[in-house]
Amino acid sequence: MILVTGGAGFIGANFVLDWLAQSDEALINLDKLTYAGNRENLATLAGDPRHIFVHGDIGDSQLTASLLAQYQPRAIVNFAAESHVDRSIHGPEDFIQTNIVGSFHLLEATRAYWGTLADPARQGFRFLHVSTDEVYGSLRSDEAAFSETHAYEPNSPYSASKAASDHLVRAYHHTYGLPVLTTNCSNNYGPYHFPEKLIPLMIVNALAGKALPVYGDGQQIRDWLYVKDHCTAIRRVLEAGRPGETYNVGGWNEQPNLDIVHTVCQLLDELHPRADGRPYREQITTVADRPGHDRRYAIDARKIENELGWKPAETFATGIRKTVLWYLENQKWVHNVQSGSYRDWVEKNYGEREK
Ligand code: NAD
Ligand code: DAU
Repeated sequence: MILVTGGAGFIGANFVLDWLAQSDEALINLDKLTYAGNRENLATLAGDPRHIFVHGDIGDSQLTASLLAQYQPRAIVNFAAESHVDRSIHGPEDFIQTNIVGSFHLLEATRAYWGTLADPARQGFRFLHVSTDEVYGSLRSDEAAFSETHAYEPNSPYSASKAASDHLVRAYHHTYGLPVLTTNCSNNYGPYHFPEKLIPLMIVNALAGKALPVYGDGQQIRDWLYVKDHCTAIRRVLEAGRPGETYNVGGWNEQPNLDIVHTVCQLLDELHPRADGRPYREQITTVADRPGHDRRYAIDARKIENELGWKPAETFATGIRKTVLWYLENQKWVHNVQSGSYRDWVEKNYGEREK
């Protein structure tokens, strides 16, 4: 049994679905169901006894303590976070509460629980914290990609809050010996990505005939990784990572935002041409830049490759095609997110049986 937090969000849901597709080990999925949490992502698990969904907050120490005592998980994978940089600029407080205070309470509950375990469960226990490349700050075009020893220089309230949680996780290992692992991953894309982030927003807006808003000059560079490759990396680190270590995860795929948007437009031109026959790229508009916008991220993923033998299975070409196809085939999911009706999904699908 493992405990996953934030498993109704984009990466967490992909992780939960992959986990249960590959193993019969049950998991508890603790999620607060913020705007980003969507139980419809987990619809295929309805009635599956291996998936124990708990609606709750990682900052609720009583709840986490009782879940740990009841289910005695061998590991915790902490995805739960406020994750959208733009939202952190408009309203940082939720980011401080969940990413810093919430992670602290979860670590405290974990430390207390871990202290109750006897060997071999105590030795084998792992707390895996899912973090981001954004904690390292911005790279100049001539700088080497982020390695695990790169200094932390977070620039947004989001990245600062994730950096703080990474430091707490590190401190719980150093001070208390808690067997922690941290992964710092680049930009993910793929199924169930909430359509306020770049790639899903461009697909959804393009299909709706809306503008495709590119911030500033569109030359900001990100490294993009297909979400299922991130999930494989997390499973591999959980299985074989060395306690106390951090592992950078990336796709060796640096691209300027404008190129990403052009690729999405070209795929839509091919797979779902506009009714008027015009190219989707005509919908691209430039808008004001994000305040404090980081110019470039790049991940050096050699440590996880060399130590743990992990490599991404998808190239950007294969992953982005799968992603565009997924959005074309799942327009009902998009509609439910946009209309807000995904919030009622549990009510509609389970009635009073489960909430
Ligand atoms: P997301 O916003 O899609 O999902 C976050 C999930 O956490 C949601 O289901 C939400 O309901 C839940 N949650 C939020 N606050 C909570 C709380 N206090 N208690 C319990 N649950 C809570 O995020 P995502 O894109 O899936 O990212 C997951 C993790 O991976 C985050 O920690 C993020 O920092 C990290 N990450 C994301 C990316 C990316 O490209 N999306 C890249 C690297 C790292
Ligand atoms: O690098 C990993 C991070 O990637 C994760 O830690 C975050 O949780 C995740 O949200 C993501 O952050 P970004 O800010 O990079 O993602 P976003 O999709 O918001 O933006 C990607 C790039 O595209 C960024 O440079 C801003 C730009 N952008 C974004 C949007 C939404 C636009 O130009 N236009 C847009 O409308």
